[in-house]
Amino acid sequence: MDPISNPFAPGAGSPPPELAGREELRETARIALERVRRGLPSKSILMVGLRGVGKTVLLDRMRAEAEQRGLYTVRVEAPEDRSLPAILAPELRVALLRLSRTERTKDAAQRALRGLAGFAKALKVKYHDIEVGLDFEPEAGLADNGDLEHDLQALLEAAGQAARQGQSALAIFADELQYVAEDQLAALITALHRTAQQRLPVMLIGAGLPQLRGRMGRAKSYAERLFDFPEVGPLPEEAAKLAVSKPVRDAGADITDGALEIIFQETRGYPYFVQEWGKHAWESAAASPITASDVQRGSAIAIAALDESFFRVRFDRLTPLEKRYLRAMAELGPDAHRSGDIASVLRREVTSLGPTRAQLISKGMIYSPSHGDTAFTVPLFDAFMRRIMPGDDWKKN
Ligand SMILES: Nc1ncnc2c1ncn2[C@@H]1O[C@H](COP(=O)(O)OP(=O)(O)O)[C@@H](O)[C@H]1O
Ligand SMILES: [Mg+2]
Repeated sequence: MDPISNPFAPGAGSPPPELAGREELRETARIALERVRRGLPSKSILMVGLRGVGKTVLLDRMRAEAEQRGLYTVRVEAPEDRSLPAILAPELRVALLRLSRTERTKDAAQRALRGLAGFAKALKVKYHDIEVGLDFEPEAGLADNGDLEHDLQALLEAAGQAARQGQSALAIFADELQYVAEDQLAALITALHRTAQQRLPVMLIGAGLPQLRGRMGRAKSYAERLFDFPEVGPLPEEAAKLAVSKPVRDAGADITDGALEIIFQETRGYPYFVQEWGKHAWESAAASPITASDVQRGSAIAIAALDESFFRVRFDRLTPLEKRYLRAMAELGPDAHRSGDIASVLRREVTSLGPTRAQLISKGMIYSPSHGDTAFTVPLFDAFMRRIMPGDDWKKN
């Protein structure tokens, strides 16, 4: 059918035509934010899940919904190589400038902006990557100690006071939090702990790979009590089918139950795959309705497309030994594996592979679901590894 009207949107962070099956999580975020706005106790939310389950688009949706309800939001994404204060400062500035435009919140927001100036100047020594426009002179003693843990706390307190003046809240939406260095995570946790104790309307809604939970716990042992860690997983059958059928019908076409059934089986409800299969099923169909055989013809193309994008970008960032490590895991199947088993596939000592495993965890390729276990952070990555490294040459040292 006409590719121009194809509604599907495979791609990291691309908003789907239908955000299916996430009503409960959206409601959880709404309740948490509205409680914090009213000065009621409420936990920050950190959504954890594998690659491609839809954390980023959910975060963006929650943010849009929060903005619509009149909250002040900040959106950051932690890259692998930049500091948290550097990514936070410019976004916080924008939110504070908005707060400073309203009469009721002007004074408090300007104070927070002075805090931001002190924060940036004092921390620049340690975090050279901080670049932020300064609108006011710093206020001596306000967030300008040069110590992240202290200064972030003071800054978020000042920002929270401004939001409270406006009977609103400041919501920080942070993606890829697993990449934030542990000392910086610790500072963020402490700052949020402090604002929560004072019932200031400041909240973090974050997302990250499954290793985030453990990282938070290591950064501050009380983090587990301070945050909720809802899991974002594959879509249940009904939601996965709706994610395909609704956009098709909204575009004036139709799809058979048999076709939806195969899409669910092939994708196992993983949102990224659902989009990819939806897209190629649409393209394979000559006319409406899209049938099971259209889906089957589209499958091979969907897999090839994933190999070239979703899987490939991750694979290309690996060293030869990292690739072999993942290939050995794939040999053992899709689930979690013991380090010893992976090492024996490669005929190596476990300890000699320790650094490789650690590198793969820090690149976000694998995580440890429980002590000594290793699993992929990308769904169906095992099958991809077998496709891209077929045979068993990779076993040779
Ligand atoms: N609830 C959903 N229903 C349908 N498609 C979704 C849903 N969530 C995400 N997607 C699609 O899945 C893909 C991956 O989403 P993304 O938010 O980038 O995942 P993550 O951040 O977890 O890696 C995107 O193409 C997006 O449109
Ligand atoms: Mg994402």
